[in-house]
Amino acid sequence: MGRHAPVLLTPFIDALCTSPDGRYVDATFGRGGHARALLEKLSPSGRLLALDRDPDAVREGQRLAAQDERFCVRHCAFAELDAALDETGWDKVHGIGFDLGVSSPQLDDAERGFSFSRDGPLDMRMDTGHGQPLCERLVRINERELADIIRRYGNERYAGRIARAILHARDGGDMTRTAQLENVVFHAMPKKARFGGAHPATRTFQALRMWVNDEMAQLEEGIKAAMQRLLPGGRLAVISFHSGEDRTVRDLIEAEVHACTCPPDFPICVCGRMPSMRWLQKKPLRANAVEIAENARSRSALLRVAERLA
Ligand SMILES: C[S@@+](CC[C@H](N)C(=O)[O-])C[C@H]1O[C@@H](n2cnc3c(N)ncnc32)[C@H](O)[C@@H]1O
Repeated sequence: MGRHAPVLLTPFIDALCTSPDGRYVDATFGRGGHARALLEKLSPSGRLLALDRDPDAVREGQRLAAQDERFCVRHCAFAELDAALDETGWDKVHGIGFDLGVSSPQLDDAERGFSFSRDGPLDMRMDTGHGQPLCERLVRINERELADIIRRYGNERYAGRIARAILHARDGGDMTRTAQLENVVFHAMPKKARFGGAHPATRTFQALRMWVNDEMAQLEEGIKAAMQRLLPGGRLAVISFHSGEDRTVRDLIEAEVHACTCPPDFPICVCGRMPSMRWLQKKPLRANAVEIAENARSRSALLRVAERLA
């Protein structure tokens, strides 16, 4: 099993864990870096439920569950968070954490098809048992739709020409491997944009991965469910690596922090909606220089933490 260096480990765990005897959910087990650190803070009566949609991550979680009776793991996606808690027999919990995106072992395993630097099948599914791999999803998409995905999820300014080149290669039968996708994206970029900075295929690969895994809809459902499942004083901690994800998390929490929907010029509230969450810190927390020097992945990490009021 590959390794994954957890980002923002101490602030994430400190924010999440308010009671050593509490019940917690790690919605993104990965290789268990955050989960193991949380278990270290829990007493013998504390409990941790971990979720992951990736079967390899769940297998690693099962190994940990065999060694620690305070811990259990379930194979499911964020959208099934409610059902996972029900099946565990839990109603409300003391904290729920999300560490979004892909894990290092997912990127490192060429057969998973996430990486532009290791050739593999064009798959990109986090749950290899569900849904369609990228190469199948590309079969039916048109240029406008594909450009929209690459622009929206990848913030890619050359989305139009990249989408055109991908579909041209697809129609010629040359779009089944990650190396083909990387090559097509590289050559679709204008020469001035090919060198310097991140690899030119980074944004397109990220966008296609988010599309294949329906990540934004999953995130929205997961965060909404998580806020409903917290005890008063319970914490929601979310690490994101993508501006769109961070905005979604911020807006969903903000809608509960400032719940009143009355027009600003109303002298008193008539909608009656009371805040159900409060921010622990208004601005997202970032990794410090030491962590960034040790783990480049932490450079773009943003941690948001909020607390359930009632
Ligand atoms: C960045 S990794 C988590 C790493 C983990 N915190 C650690 O320290 O090892 C993100 C994990 O979340 C999982 N994941 C991403 N989106 C998911 C979703 N919608 N539902 C369930 N798991 C998801 C991925 O499969 C991956 O294993």
